[in-house]
Amino acid sequence: MDYRGKAVLITGGASGIGAAAARLFAAAGASVAIADRNGEAASALAQELPGAIACTVDVMNPDDCLAMVDAVRKAFGRLDCAFNNAGITEVAPLKGAPLPETHELPLDIWRQVLGVDLDGVFHCLRAELPLLLESGGGAIVNTTSLQAHISYPRTAAYTAAKHGVLGLTKTIAKEYGGRAIRCNAVSPGVVDTPLTNQVIHQPEYKDMLLAPIPIGRFAQPEDVAKAVVWLCSEDAAYINGAVLAADGGYLA
Ligand SMILES: NC(=O)c1ccc[n+]([C@@H]2O[C@H](COP(=O)([O-])OP(=O)(O)OC[C@H]3O[C@@H](n4cnc5c(N)ncnc54)[C@H](O)[C@@H]3O)[C@@H](O)[C@H]2O)c1
Repeated sequence: MDYRGKAVLITGGASGIGAAAARLFAAAGASVAIADRNGEAASALAQELPGAIACTVDVMNPDDCLAMVDAVRKAFGRLDCAFNNAGITEVAPLKGAPLPETHELPLDIWRQVLGVDLDGVFHCLRAELPLLLESGGGAIVNTTSLQAHISYPRTAAYTAAKHGVLGLTKTIAKEYGGRAIRCNAVSPGVVDTPLTNQVIHQPEYKDMLLAPIPIGRFAQPEDVAKAVVWLCSEDAAYINGAVLAADGGYLA
């Protein structure tokens, strides 16, 4: 695919799925902005990719998201594709404590997960849409999850946030589709990234997690990133408001 002359913004771009997408977009000729809370990792990746920039951003903070899009405007003068992908689960803020039942979920964990995974996508969208409109349109992809469709016990915050992102995606598709902005979601299955790799390879989880995946392996970040690059491309010009599962058949 040819992304020469296109500017692409990726949140959570320093690791996992976002980093794989940054590499693929850059290889296709795009100017890529790698936005991440981990500014050091974002800068290290930006140095590897010709023409890329790094932005340190906490998507929970609406002002950070406005500053991130300002940096894109200054560097590239336009925005063609936004991949709103930064995300966390309950696992990291619980710092190794077992996942509690929903009635015992600490409020601060609920707020943190919703703050990054749902508010964060909204903060990014409200910052990106004006520049996408100014640029004559473009494509947005939001990262959801299996958990935008199904749930597991003790994952109330993540499941609620990802269901919310799906709703947000559909609203943007309806509201801005007539102004040449397409908005879709990608729904990864179980992907081998730093978000999951401390859990999915443990013997007590591995077989259980693999069992519902007809393809018989966990996804690599590139499996999902390729779907994102396609959704943003002209080849997907009539795809709007859709959710593309990159889950090896899990949801089937
Ligand atoms: N790995 C999986 O199995 C899986 C499955 C379904 C959905 N997802 C989703 O895919 C997306 C990417 O996850 P990944 O697996 O690549 O994880 P990852 O941990 O490798 O990457 C996530 C990136 O987001 C950044 N980030 C976290 N909070 C942030 C914040 N507040 N502001 C800015 N950046 C922030 C992190 O620093 C990290 O670089 C997430 O939205 C996640 O929910 C992952």
